[in-house]
Parts: sequence; C-alpha cells; structure tokens
Amino acid sequence: MKIIILAISVLFLPNLSPYFQNDELSSSIGKGKLLYQDFCITCHLPNGMGTKSVVPPLANSDFLIKNRSESIRSVKYGQKGNIMVNGIAYNGLMPAPGLDDDEVVDVLNYITHSWGNDLPIFTEKEIKTIKK
Ligand code: HEC
Repeated sequence: MKIIILAISVLFLPNLSPYFQNDELSSSIGKGKLLYQDFCITCHLPNGMGTKSVVPPLANSDFLIKNRSESIRSVKYGQKGNIMVNGIAYNGLMPAPGLDDDEVVDVLNYITHSWGNDLPIFTEKEIKTIKK
C-alpha cells in the first residue's frame, strides 16, 4: 500500500507544482499592487510610464528586464546617478522606499507582471542575496 501511495505521489506531485507556484505568484502580485499604490505610484504613475527624462518607466523597462540584480538593489536601497532606460538617460534620485524584504519581493512581482511585463518570479531567498 505504502509503495502504491509513494508511486502515485511521485507521478502526480511534479505535475501539481506549477499550480502551487501560480498561487504563490498571484498572492504576491496582489500584495505588491497595494505596496505600489502606497510607495511608488506618485513617481512611476499608475501606468508605470514615469515621466520622460525625470522618472524612468517600469512598463517594458529594458533596465528591469536586463539588470535583475540592479533592479532589486534599486527597490531595496533606492537609486541615484546616471542610468539609461529604453534609450533615455536619467540622472535622478529615488529614495530608499524602506520596505521589508518580503515587501520588496511582492512589489517586484507586481511591477514585473504588469503593463505587459513578464519576468520570472522573485523570491525572498533571491532578494536576500542582494547587498548594498
Ligand atoms: C520619489 C520618486 C520615486 C519613488 C517614490 C519611487 N521611484 Fe523608482 N525611480 C525613481 C527615479 C528618479 C529613478 C531613476 C534614478 C536614477 O536616475 O538613477 C527610479 C528608478 C527605479 C528603477 C530602476 C529603473 C527602471 O525604470 O527600471 C526601478 C525598478 C524602480 N525605480 C522601482 C520603484 C519601485 C518598485 C518603487 C516603489 C517601491 C519606486 N521605484 C519608488 C523615482 C521614484
């Protein structure tokens, strides 16, 4: 009997894991949306487009897509100095939002699954590897 249960688990569990991941992702996106409204929307705007040459866009941002670690660093610790986003130069200041690591995860999952963005899920384990 045990062996049969084991065999069934081995056969079915891997097939179920994408559903668990989707659940985790959609709950994180839901929390991230609220954080975005509290901590980001005034500058990056509801459509994630920012303001040309002043606040860079998050929607289809090549910076967000190509520089995963730098993007995490920006959201954890703030961002200043010269950066290039979608061919436009920015030299502004984003103060550190002051979020906990789990909130950084949620807001990143929200912005990378909004406005046509679609990046792999962020986890707290990954966020913790990024230092100032
Ligand atoms: C006070 C305005 C302001 C707020 C609030 C703000 N940002 Fe920013 N953000 C900026 C500016 C300005 C830059 C570019 C800084 C530079 O020129 O180096 C930036 C850069 C970024 C970048 C990297 C560049 C890009 O466009 O991909 C990300 C990612 C980002 N912000 C996400 C967020 C998130 C998420 C929040 C909320 C937790 C947030 N920002 C809150 C102004 C802001």
